[in-house]
Amino acid sequence: MEDQINILQEEINQYTVQNEEELETYRMRFISRKSVIGDLLTAIKDVAPEQRKETGIKLNQLKNAAQAKFKELISELENQNNSTKKTDIPDLTLPSIPDELGAIHPLTQVRNRITEIFERIGFQVVDGPEIEDDRHNFTALNFPPNHPAREMQDTFFIEKDSVGNRPDMVLRTHTSSVQIRMMEEGKPPFRAIMPGRVFRNEAISARAHCVFHQVEGLYVDRNVSFADLKQTLLHFAKELFGPKTRIRLRPSYFPFTEPSAELDIWWGNETEADKRITKGTGWLEIGGCGMVDPFVLESCGIDAEEFTGFAFGMGIERIAMIKYQIKDLRLFTENDIRFLKQFSQFN
Ligand code: DAH
Repeated sequence: MEDQINILQEEINQYTVQNEEELETYRMRFISRKSVIGDLLTAIKDVAPEQRKETGIKLNQLKNAAQAKFKELISELENQNNSTKKTDIPDLTLPSIPDELGAIHPLTQVRNRITEIFERIGFQVVDGPEIEDDRHNFTALNFPPNHPAREMQDTFFIEKDSVGNRPDMVLRTHTSSVQIRMMEEGKPPFRAIMPGRVFRNEAISARAHCVFHQVEGLYVDRNVSFADLKQTLLHFAKELFGPKTRIRLRPSYFPFTEPSAELDIWWGNETEADKRITKGTGWLEIGGCGMVDPFVLESCGIDAEEFTGFAFGMGIERIAMIKYQIKDLRLFTENDIRFLKQFSQFN
């Protein structure tokens, strides 16, 4: 029995508890009436009589020790609970969680930059609806009904009215519709840019998307000439891409401008990559432009004898791709944080 007492004493000395359940386990093992110590007290009568007194004393000591330890464990547990409550107070010695810096989306950055450049030369920024009627998206821009030029733009129709009672409603295919709204609502001179989202029914690929962004420009006043158009675009390109930038205007066709041109930016044609990106020409197209067709002015109630104007429309994705050398249009809308993060340096 002496050995058992020693082993139990050792066990009691080592005992620790983390929670109430463990404390209860201790109580059952050492304190309760069915405890191991209780069992030993019952068994003392079997100890040889000459040993009994000494063993009895030791057993009593063990019992006392078990009770003292029980009290100790209770107060330890209480302390522990109190101190976990205290951890609500922040530990000021911990290193701080680093602030993650967000980045302005590259398309927004480019749009802001374009706006800034044009605002400095007196253009205002004008907004228009994304859902348009046929007149603003097509007819007033000199796309007559059933004219093949409408085929140039794969239109998303929202409402098509074959009886002719209501206008067809479309998702605007270009920001040129805002030109019409502006000219209808105000009086010349007009000098504005109109950035916004446009929609076309196109298969999504590295080079095309069904939703993209354009910025429209319109300048209508007395004596506005093609030279003004070219100079404005050259100034814009130099501001955006750097002072050595060159532009080229290539004859083209749009129903709402006459003459019309395609605006190209010189990219370079030295490396293999240059040749691939520019299809071997060294030039990259970023938009269209021209002198506002007198028909368009007249359909907005502006005297085309008195006023002339120029207009242009550019792709914001196109410009961002050139500026940041982005090869795939889809990256702009996939919201991959690894892509977007790279633009925090330009914020
Ligand atoms: N709206 C044309 C397009 O989406 C771009 C354009 C060309 C706009 C010439 C213009 C312009 O204002 O003058 O393809």
